[in-house]
Amino acid sequence: MGLLITSKHLDMLKQMAQMENNGKKLMSLLKKRGYIQPAFELYGGIAGLYDYGPLGGRLKSNVNKMWLNHWIALGNIVEIDSPTITPKEVLMASGHIGAFNDFASECKSCNSIFRSDHLLEEIHPNPDSLSQEDLFSEFENNLIKCPTCKSSKWSIPQPLNLMFSTTIGASKNGRTAYMRPETAQGMFLQFPTISRFFRGKLPFGAVQLGKGYRNEISPRQGIIRLREFNMAELEYFIDPKKSTSHNLEIWNDTLLKLIPDGSESKQKELETTIFDAVKNGIVKHETVGWFMIKTYELMIDLGLNPEFLRFRQHEKNEMAHYATDCWDLEIFGSYGWIECVGIAHRGSYDLEAHDKFINTNDLKIWRDFETEKVIEKTVCSPVQSVIGPKFKNYSKAISEKLLKIKNIPESFPFELEVGEETFLIQKEMVEIKDIKTVDRGEWFIPHVVEPAFGIDRIIWHILEHSYNEINKKDDENYTILSLNKKIAPLNFAVYPLYEKDGMKQKADSISQLLREVDGISVIYDGSKSIGRRYARGDEIGIPFAVTVDLQTIEDETITIRYRDSQEQERITVSELLDFATKIV
Ligand code: GLY
Repeated sequence: MGLLITSKHLDMLKQMAQMENNGKKLMSLLKKRGYIQPAFELYGGIAGLYDYGPLGGRLKSNVNKMWLNHWIALGNIVEIDSPTITPKEVLMASGHIGAFNDFASECKSCNSIFRSDHLLEEIHPNPDSLSQEDLFSEFENNLIKCPTCKSSKWSIPQPLNLMFSTTIGASKNGRTAYMRPETAQGMFLQFPTISRFFRGKLPFGAVQLGKGYRNEISPRQGIIRLREFNMAELEYFIDPKKSTSHNLEIWNDTLLKLIPDGSESKQKELETTIFDAVKNGIVKHETVGWFMIKTYELMIDLGLNPEFLRFRQHEKNEMAHYATDCWDLEIFGSYGWIECVGIAHRGSYDLEAHDKFINTNDLKIWRDFETEKVIEKTVCSPVQSVIGPKFKNYSKAISEKLLKIKNIPESFPFELEVGEETFLIQKEMVEIKDIKTVDRGEWFIPHVVEPAFGIDRIIWHILEHSYNEINKKDDENYTILSLNKKIAPLNFAVYPLYEKDGMKQKADSISQLLREVDGISVIYDGSKSIGRRYARGDEIGIPFAVTVDLQTIEDETITIRYRDSQEQERITVSELLDFATKIV
């Protein structure tokens, strides 16, 4: 059977090739115009650390705001904030000390060190899933060359922990701590407070936006693989015995691209609705499915191109130490398909780990049974009037222990151990009784589903999907950054046609009126020709340009120019202000 290539598919392949070409041009534009740049450049720069500049800082906070509003609108999610410095004990309990590693290979000739899976990307579809042994065989069998000296002699890959360590307090007596590798632990440790806030009624969740740190072995690919990065995570606590009852059918007109079982193979890629994916067991957990479609919705709202989004399930040996299932949202850009969101089912792993480590009851939730359980049993009931005077301070502990005896003694006296002491119990000290008790429910540790977002990676792809070059008659390679107007760092540019005859003052006062609209940001630009100013605005993604000319002074009308259509119309200043209020 021949392979059917539709024109839509062809368009997509063309766009993908274009994007691969545009990556470098986009990066140089972003550096030049103040979106992002390598940090500490004046000191030579440090790999894996980036600055957001005058435009990038605002873009990031707009993306964060939209992310936050999307989840808070669900009604049972709260925002929290916790420290980035985390004591060692927390990360021992969470498993990050011990399990949070990447394999590194050292070249035996020049001693350069690389992340092992990165060197296998050309020859293996998913090298991140390989064990230490398999990584080494791939190196041997494929004669992988050192990027520095081209030798093929490698050490056995070694696990390297990715956390940055530090000391809290004066170093001699200080406590060992780490910069947090994820914001999630902050939510787990605030669980008692969050649970009290929601009166212990599941499901509920918490979000946190902030920095995460990973001492990457070989950071690369611009802001894709950073050592200090911006995370946004949501921990959603659920009762594993109850359905969360999401109506997934409301998204039945949305087809998602899914790659189950992590395989990149084309045979396994499928297009389906989230309702069918959950019904057919492709996505095993309803709540994971619900977060997949809600995440997809958010990505579209942020302005990403739906053609370049897909969900890939982790292979078993690729998953993080805490996860039982995980679907990555991957976005296509000039670096290929990149994981930007991980939607993981963490089960009860984390709360249980902390529960065991600190031996607390604060990480549990009460669940009522659907029907109460009546239990009939025989108990050894303490007679307080005898036990109290006889055992004094010990009587409470002895009474509690007596009530817990499972094998009712048949002869008296008998010995009862309480802590390290042994007491002799006489017949008159207890009454053997048949009683009925009613069990109304039980304490349990909730499960958690976690959508975790890499904000920098999402921002990079928003910029890539917004980058367009068009051919104009006079300008070769005219660039338009078609950022969604809700997240563009600047909403309006105000341009006087010339800075004379009162036009500058008028443009200044219109800029000020626009700035007074809540959430709107405006730039005034009066230098060079109006055409050059339009081009500068288009290149940095300002959706609307306002031009002030002599007529503005006479009749309070301006020209508004729309970035994406390049069309213009004349409207009054008051219509402009109305329009501005509707944008946000
Ligand atoms: N919490 C998800 C992650 O660390 O990637």
